[in-house]
Amino acid sequence: MSNGKFYITTPIYYPSDRLHIGHAYCTVATDAMARYKRLCGYDVMFLTGTDEHGMKIEDKAKEAGVTPKQFVDNIVEGPRGVKDLWKLMNISYDRFIRTTDDYHVTAIQRVFKKMHDNGDIYKGTYKGKYCKPCESFWTESQLKDGKCPDCGRDVVDAEEEAYFFRLSKYAGRVQDLLENTDFLEPRSRVNEMVNNFIKPGLEDLCVSRTSFTWGIPVDFDPGHVVYVWVDALFNYMTALGLENDAHHDLDKFWPADVHFVGKEIVRFHSIIWPAMLMSMGLPLPKKVYGHGWLNFGGEKMSKSRGNVVDPYILAERFGVDALRFFMLRTFPFGSDGNFTNELLIQTINTDLANDLGNLVSRTTAMVGKYFGGALPAGCGTWAEPIAADIELKERASSLRDRYEAQMERFQFQNALEEVFKVIQRANKYIDETAPWALAKDMAANGARLAHVLYNLLETTRICGVLLTPFMPDSMGKLFAQIGAPEAIRTWDSAAVWGSLADTAAPQKGENLFPRIDMDEAIKELDAAAEAAKKAALPAMELEPQAAEYVDFETFCKSDFRAVKVKACTHVKKSDKLLCFTLDDGTGTDRQILSGIAKWYEPEQLVGKTLVAIVNLPPRKMMGLASNGMLISAVHKEHGEEKLNLLMVDDAIPAGAKMC
Ligand code: MSP
Repeated sequence: MSNGKFYITTPIYYPSDRLHIGHAYCTVATDAMARYKRLCGYDVMFLTGTDEHGMKIEDKAKEAGVTPKQFVDNIVEGPRGVKDLWKLMNISYDRFIRTTDDYHVTAIQRVFKKMHDNGDIYKGTYKGKYCKPCESFWTESQLKDGKCPDCGRDVVDAEEEAYFFRLSKYAGRVQDLLENTDFLEPRSRVNEMVNNFIKPGLEDLCVSRTSFTWGIPVDFDPGHVVYVWVDALFNYMTALGLENDAHHDLDKFWPADVHFVGKEIVRFHSIIWPAMLMSMGLPLPKKVYGHGWLNFGGEKMSKSRGNVVDPYILAERFGVDALRFFMLRTFPFGSDGNFTNELLIQTINTDLANDLGNLVSRTTAMVGKYFGGALPAGCGTWAEPIAADIELKERASSLRDRYEAQMERFQFQNALEEVFKVIQRANKYIDETAPWALAKDMAANGARLAHVLYNLLETTRICGVLLTPFMPDSMGKLFAQIGAPEAIRTWDSAAVWGSLADTAAPQKGENLFPRIDMDEAIKELDAAAEAAKKAALPAMELEPQAAEYVDFETFCKSDFRAVKVKACTHVKKSDKLLCFTLDDGTGTDRQILSGIAKWYEPEQLVGKTLVAIVNLPPRKMMGLASNGMLISAVHKEHGEEKLNLLMVDDAIPAGAKMC
């Protein structure tokens, strides 16, 4: 039976780079919410997708030497792409929209035309700064020190013909929406929007561009492409069938119940989006929730800052469920959180390994040990419950209500806190009832012991149901271990104490959440991150060849000679330098210092014939004289410098000139 419908969305992601754990944060939260609503009996539509147009993608594709469509196809559909990542993270989306999908393109053209026809989109002039060599328009604020942010050259004042949306016309209605309804949450974001954007005066928005082509063409005015945010925001409705025949779910699912979005795009969702819907005469979404960022080292994760955390590495090491759980358990959804590997491991160890994992393994082990795997009939009730029995039962059966109150407000951290309070209470109950002491006299205490274990299993079941939206796979395993069939993994049963059959037959299984050795795991993660970084670098890099000619005479002045290594030692107090004593054919030993200790041990080199330039002016290093320089070949492999001394055939006599 359905409780009604629920439509929830994530932002659609820019496929300009691989996604990182910060992107996964919002999608995991949306997934937990969608699964929770399904559990409650709602008919859910969970939409996600990719926002594939714009100059940035056009530029990246050019850099990669492919077409923009080929470029986005690879990041969306290719190995370790967006869809792969959502599969890995167990994201249960119902629909995936790509803004390059044909139906979306046509629908956006129709939407644009409608707003044009109703007078809300008009043609004007976009005034800005122009970089001639780059053929790019910039706003004043995009400039870097007054210059083109791409090439650093001077820009000039310029004008471009463009279409504008009458955003200013809707300022009053949008302000009213923000201030007098609960359209935007958390409330703190309302003040930010009203004070920073609406009160200073909303200007009309430039909604077409002519300086690049990778966008949806304005069909009635060739040369113009639709501004990427207009294209992107309407995805929430075109994916349901707005102005297209590919889908037919608008009546059922629109207006959306909630758009989850990161805080930096709240402005687009809470000002521009409602204004355009007002212009189109369409119903507004019920809510926009602006969540915080997952930071790393105190800053927002981003490719350009080089502080992105790879979800594949974490999921492989700790499991997808532990990672999903960590993100929503540790940080309040509305605020920023600082990601660290230490915090992740600590959360897994404390909540999952110690509290939940132990509760399951101790309880199922005791049922096995004391009752041969199945509890005796009738153990679900006890005539004279003690205070701890009553408290545990009361806390577990009322948990669903407390959890629901938090989930309905998107307070995942608090909802999980409620569940873990009950799990901790259950562990304390084990200590209070001391089953191992009861087991010493089974004849006298066996029935009581069975009741204690039943209470623990039933508490675990209720917590398991409520944790399912966060850790779907692990909870499936947990139910199998405690002997809870499908019928009692439901929302209804989570509020009904005693749903578990008193003859439940738990099976102690694999450890659901193994404890993690912090030091070892940190080392492994660091090594994996380093390896991933290296793998992302080109396999081999060569120094670019000299751009300038050197005249032949100058070249001929360089005196290269074969030199034979007579002795070689480390230079004291230097990690880099080796000191060579060389036979250069003159009869007098030559001393050369060379910074190659990282690549060679001195004893490897004695007896070898090398090449040196011998007419460089003498230099002193670490108090020692160096008369010349040994020649080596250098290149980089996966970002690591490699060096090989130039060695020549032993048949070449010391002192032979190279020319
Ligand atoms: N394409 C737009 C959204 C259009 S929706 C009509 C966009 N894409 S994005 O790929 O740059 O970002 C997608 C979402 O990921 C945003 O909500 C953004 O806030 C979120 N995050 C990106 N990095 C993040 C963190 N480090 N932490 C949390 N969320 C982050 O914006």
